[in-house]
Amino acid sequence: MDVVISPMPHTAAERAGARVAEAIAANPLLVLGVATGSSPLGVYAHVRERIERHGLDVSGITCFALDEYVGLPEDHPQSYHQVIRQTVTEPWGLRADQVHVPAGTTGDPRQAALDYERDIREAGGVGLQLVGIGGNGHIGFNEPGSSLGSRTRIKTLHPRTREDNARFFGGDMDAVPIHCITQGIATILDAGHVLMIASGAGKADAVAKMVEGPVSSACPASALQLHPHTEVFIDDAAAAGLLHRDYYDFAVANADSVPGA
Ligand code: F6R
Repeated sequence: MDVVISPMPHTAAERAGARVAEAIAANPLLVLGVATGSSPLGVYAHVRERIERHGLDVSGITCFALDEYVGLPEDHPQSYHQVIRQTVTEPWGLRADQVHVPAGTTGDPRQAALDYERDIREAGGVGLQLVGIGGNGHIGFNEPGSSLGSRTRIKTLHPRTREDNARFFGGDMDAVPIHCITQGIATILDAGHVLMIASGAGKADAVAKMVEGPVSSACPASALQLHPHTEVFIDDAAAAGLLHRDYYDFAVANADSVPGA
């Protein structure tokens, strides 16, 4: 993993946003995996700036969201259909048909999960996947104990996740749905390039386990150690638990100085 530590959350978001913009510029037909939650908002804002000020062309990209709550109507303000519409689709000027979110309100969510996995595959797979990390180490909504070989499926949200996400539901944990459809860990690992974005002291323990802990379903994000191209953009506070922090900084400082390269 390449761990890039920035002094402030907005610097981490700008660096990650620059990566997303570069990937779109290099491949205008990019299949981009998008996350919800607070962590990627600065990344999305940076990409929007590239679109508006620098003419970045996003008309050919396709987006796939990581997850969706089961049973929350698509027009509910906290459904991920709405969240992605408000943070990505509309600000970036994408057409609705460019953006896919798992269908959490069909009569058959299990089939909806299978269909979503197939849709990703038929789109040629995700080229660049943006992910956040839960305080309990989840990626997507792959909670602790998730199979590292999992595919898109229904999961039960961990009480910690429902507690963390209660802030989006007026502070009421009981209003947070119990189930979701999430891309699996193996689905996420299929992406060509994974960008993790995290900030704040509340993520420090999970980030340390993800980067330096054993690969274990106890910290689902640790599965990213198996991915050949994962970049982790974090701020100082989220880096606080890393044992080898000095080394990561040294590696970044010397990234462009390989003799003969
Ligand atoms: C969101 C998702 C989750 C979040 C994670 C962090 O689609 O799959 O894994 O990325 O819960 O959430 P925030 O960024 O709100 O701290």
